Amino acid sequence: MKHYTSIHDIDDMPNWIEEAKVLKANPLKHVELGRNKTIGLLFFNSSLRTRLSTQKAALNLGMNPIVMNVSGDAWGIEFGDGTVMNGTTAEHIKEAAAVVSQYCDIIAVRAFPTLTDKAKDESEQVLKSFVKYASVPIVNMESATGHPLQGLTDALTISEHAQVSKPKVVLSWAPHTKALPHAVANSFVQAMQKMDVEFVIANPEGYDLNPEITGDTPIFHHQKEAFKDADFVYTKNWSSYESYGKVISKDSDWMITKDKIGKAKFLHCLPVRRNVVVEDAVLDSESSLVIQQANNRTYAAQLVLKKLLENL
Ligand code: CP
Repeated sequence: MKHYTSIHDIDDMPNWIEEAKVLKANPLKHVELGRNKTIGLLFFNSSLRTRLSTQKAALNLGMNPIVMNVSGDAWGIEFGDGTVMNGTTAEHIKEAAAVVSQYCDIIAVRAFPTLTDKAKDESEQVLKSFVKYASVPIVNMESATGHPLQGLTDALTISEHAQVSKPKVVLSWAPHTKALPHAVANSFVQAMQKMDVEFVIANPEGYDLNPEITGDTPIFHHQKEAFKDADFVYTKNWSSYESYGKVISKDSDWMITKDKIGKAKFLHCLPVRRNVVVEDAVLDSESSLVIQQANNRTYAAQLVLKKLLENL
């Protein structure tokens, strides 16, 4: 594996999950693997979990992490080809990526979508420009359309907590105050499609995800029907894909409640807005796995970095 930009970079999900469990049991076993290697974490957007867990994963492998909030602290980067740079951007990605590649053995990038320009978002301009112009491996820490470190984490968490050989997993949309990206939901769908689970999606009309990603996965427009016999309810808000980036519903009837999920375990990538997306009674109960899930971010990232280091 040269880069980790998508769930499709995972060649064998069950194997990766087992490898992540082994790493989790002994996180410092490979502390010499990354000795004297540097990872640069470049954030165009905010983060708590991704920022800290990826640093922690790098430290567990003996790497030196360096972190930059690109949007706030770096020169404005130009991604367009042939642009006359007489506007707000001061440095082209061709130079920026080449320069950072000299300081870092691996570069990880977070860059969210515009949610206004579907074609631009789907082109993954920022992530793909780093892949094109950097000379070192690139890790996707959440791009316009995917969050594969989160998707691997979620697969690991479900595997750890499954009580039956083929659990039923539901991805449910829930309301939110703002327009949010599709990245987490997309990568979760792709991760579940690589697992031996009964997987369905529940979202209101107008909120179907990109059909090229959902494929044959059943989509329900009624939560109750989808939640029947669920072992896991994974919740996330996303803006409309069809009416791209728009909030077309804030229907609080879609909020996750204890009554709705019954005995199912609850997952969410965090951060989560309490009593908008999910009620306190769920998050504060034994049903919630969100803290364990966030802990697994370290081991998912560590597995990815280990594989990239082994291939340097
Ligand atoms: N789940 C997740 O990616 O969290 P952060 O946005 O805090 O990194």
